[in-house]
Amino acid sequence: MSRCSLRPTAVCVVAALSFGVFAQRAQTEPTAPELPSGRHEKKLAIATKYMVAAAHPLAVEAGLKMLQRGGSAIDAAIAVQMVLNLVEPQASGIGGGAFIMHFDVKQKSTVAYNGRETAPMAATPNLFIGYDGKPMRFQDAVVGGRSVGVPGLLRVVEMAHARHGRLPWASLFEPAIALAENGFALSPRLQIHLVNEKILPKDAEARTYFYLPDGTPKPVGAILKNPAFAAVLRRIAKEGPDAFYAGTLAKEMVAAVRGHATNPGSLTEDDLLNYRARSGAPLCASYRSYRVCTVPPPGGGLTVLQILKTLERFDLKAVRPGSTEAVHLFAEAGRLAYADRERYLGDDRFTPIPTAGLTDAAYNRRRSELIRPGISMGRADAGVPENAKVEMADGDTMEFPSTSHISIVDGDGNAVSMTTTIESVFGSKIFVRGFLLNNELTDFSMTPFNNGLTVANAVYPGKQPRSAMSPTLVFDDADRLHLVIGSPGGPLIINYVAKTLVATLDWGMDIQSAISLPNFGSRNGPTEIEKGTSIENLIGSLKSIGHEVRVNDLTSGLHGIMRTSTGWQGGADPRREGIASGK
Ligand code: DON
Repeated sequence: MSRCSLRPTAVCVVAALSFGVFAQRAQTEPTAPELPSGRHEKKLAIATKYMVAAAHPLAVEAGLKMLQRGGSAIDAAIAVQMVLNLVEPQASGIGGGAFIMHFDVKQKSTVAYNGRETAPMAATPNLFIGYDGKPMRFQDAVVGGRSVGVPGLLRVVEMAHARHGRLPWASLFEPAIALAENGFALSPRLQIHLVNEKILPKDAEARTYFYLPDGTPKPVGAILKNPAFAAVLRRIAKEGPDAFYAGTLAKEMVAAVRGHATNPGSLTEDDLLNYRARSGAPLCASYRSYRVCTVPPPGGGLTVLQILKTLERFDLKAVRPGSTEAVHLFAEAGRLAYADRERYLGDDRFTPIPTAGLTDAAYNRRRSELIRPGISMGRADAGVPENAKVEMADGDTMEFPSTSHISIVDGDGNAVSMTTTIESVFGSKIFVRGFLLNNELTDFSMTPFNNGLTVANAVYPGKQPRSAMSPTLVFDDADRLHLVIGSPGGPLIINYVAKTLVATLDWGMDIQSAISLPNFGSRNGPTEIEKGTSIENLIGSLKSIGHEVRVNDLTSGLHGIMRTSTGWQGGADPRREGIASGK
């Protein structure tokens, strides 16, 4: 069912997205391990006034409803987020955190909001070191209370709504409450995650909600009702986020984390009470005639900017997308930028990050001289930017298909780019009152020291783990908002966002084509290219110039909006279930 058919006035445009088609696939392939071939090509969405692009049609519909009522971009984003929490529970929600880029068209101001989880005050640098003195296995660290950071989502949207909201707070929860009470159809992507999930069914509440009495997941299209979550949302709608950060709900979350049977955590009621969202200046850099603005550390945007600044000296317009040269240059730039990321990035309040040095044009130009046309550098070393305090960090962040990105432009031209997550699929697998708690603390380095040096991304009480999330806004040479973009994808987010920027800004693609373009890049390991796409035919030529090539699913979830001469165009990732739609 397409939302477009329910919305004849919208210049809606979505996808050849049919839940019916999905339903057939998933029912005939119930044990498929992932959704690489869940690819459904999407059509470019066109609108003159406003646009919403997000990971589920019902979430986009909620956002459009707010915009139709005269709501602002942040009003719509909050409504989208609450519906995503319900219909895409594996990816994001009130039990997690988010980074938000906000553009206020009247003030001509851009603000970066940080609702990243923090480590509880009792967390120690050895949080993920086992009894044997060795780092825990990643999955052992994920499941249970140990990995749960203090959720930041509600505090950060509260802060952004107080400054940029137009509609009453409570009204933003109406679509999610109605869907939670009346029910919504279980989607194919959620169902496949349920099929693959081993831990969640052990939780009695989650089992009743997601699974049949015989333990198999409910089928695609089954109507899920979540009255417990509806009640939580009703309280937050009425009382504000304090209903989450204090009182009975806080007590229940703390009890679930501390009382976890096999892997308890240290979260306290004080940790919840003391959580504060952050806001500040975005991190911006020029890229050719554009200004690209994104979230500063501990967000992932700095590394996106480094990739762009490294590529700037190459005439990419003359390089064909999908060619060996395009993948070579992009992957080499990725190697250099990710090497710096491993060395220097973490929570800026705890780690002295040489942000200015790392984004400096001359520094990145010097680094780009390391890129040779006909041969891969293999592995890059971190550079030494100005003011660098050399520390070492481990690259131990894992990729899991979770997280969600929301892009919105409202009727006035204000914009939100918001990447939101509970980290892994179903987070820590702790299900409280119909929602899941994050496992964001596993985004910290497992080990606090390396070769006697402190790791930049080591655990510390009250610290935020490093993130790859890179919600981004691009402005043109007249300083008009040009592009809104972001993606899930764990550490690969940085490459997905940078690819889409190069595809739109250098190769002149529309936003849908840029999103749909096969993913590729390097995280300073092998050169990764997307499985099942046209660029698989580059394996031989890439190997012949020294690239170790790995073919991966590279399941991005890019959602973007770009200015046109008459309004906006929107794009949704064909690898996920989302749509772009506007009016
Ligand atoms: O903040 C981060 O970088 C990760 N927690 C994001 C996780 C993610 O995107 C998972 N997957 N697609």
